[in-house]
Amino acid sequence: MESKEISATYEAALERSKRIEADIQLHPERYKVLTGDRPTGRLHIGHYFGSLQNRVRLQNLGVPTCILIADYQVLTDHEAFSEISQNTKQLVIDYLAAGIKPSEKVIIYPHSYIPEANQLMLPFLTLVSSAELERNPTVKEEISKSELSTVNAGMLTYPIHQACDILYCKGTVVPVGKDQLPHIELTQKIARRFNKKFCKNAEPIFPEPCALLSKTPSILGLDGSQKMSKSRGNAIMLCATEDETANLIKKAKTDAERHITYDPVNRPEVANLLMLISLCTDEDPVAIAERIGDGGGGLLKKTLTDALNEKLRPLRAERKRLEAAPDYIRSVLLDGVERARAMAIETLNEVRRAMNMEI
Ligand code: TRP
Repeated sequence: MESKEISATYEAALERSKRIEADIQLHPERYKVLTGDRPTGRLHIGHYFGSLQNRVRLQNLGVPTCILIADYQVLTDHEAFSEISQNTKQLVIDYLAAGIKPSEKVIIYPHSYIPEANQLMLPFLTLVSSAELERNPTVKEEISKSELSTVNAGMLTYPIHQACDILYCKGTVVPVGKDQLPHIELTQKIARRFNKKFCKNAEPIFPEPCALLSKTPSILGLDGSQKMSKSRGNAIMLCATEDETANLIKKAKTDAERHITYDPVNRPEVANLLMLISLCTDEDPVAIAERIGDGGGGLLKKTLTDALNEKLRPLRAERKRLEAAPDYIRSVLLDGVERARAMAIETLNEVRRAMNMEI
């Protein structure tokens, strides 16, 4: 990942992302946000601070927002599929509890329910070479971590499907982490190649989307050594109770030095806990460290437990309420599907016309 070429691409994406961020504040209605998650489980506080809060912020600025649940993508690297439906509904509950408000401008739906968007896959497959797919660094890493014994074609081609996810609704802004940049770049190429080949003497059909890179630093798990993730067992789930949260934080790794300081390079575990407090209270992590000082790891953990439980209290109450309303959750999804399909049908019609396949 750290080759010169990739880091140059990252720098360019970061610059572009900053410019778009500034312009969105001025002209939210000119953009369309498309984001997505795989329904592999419930969300944790890393998702909340890293991406959910940002989605809510963009929604509240008035940017039309499509939130896609990538259920088909689960099949590319998981043998298990028995919990997809349940996980999809839990994702919706997490989104709504975090402040996403479905409306005619803000929709949530599983991509498996949008056949006309999925159909874009066929022409798009012809615009990408197999070599391009094989050198995608994110796919390569996922293959090396995957539980599958052979690489299925879905794994290799899902970045093209992700382009269908983004382009069917002409999404222009995709808030993502760094690992998704190769997919956004491929989506840009597909948009460009489609327009060049099929819209020669006409208006281009697809806008080239941009990545909006998160400003929140990557949140480490409670082990302090790797990214927070449910599968690594180092996460605090949004749905955890206050007692569960306290017990998890009690077990969090710190270090042997009693006096608390904010030093991300030399004391990553302590710095991560301070950063989490800071994300809850909006206070500077250095000031928090100074206040805790000789209170040590015990006071640090107690401060985090109180701050996090307080921050998440309204979200967790709303979560409980929504869990008791499965019909409402389903209606949110069905409404999202209806609106997404209307956009997909329109785009597929344009695409057919451009490809000379109308009858
Ligand atoms: N690939 C994304 C992930 O692994 C999920 C995803 C699917 C997505 N389609 C998308 C993200 C479209 C953004 C836009 O998390």
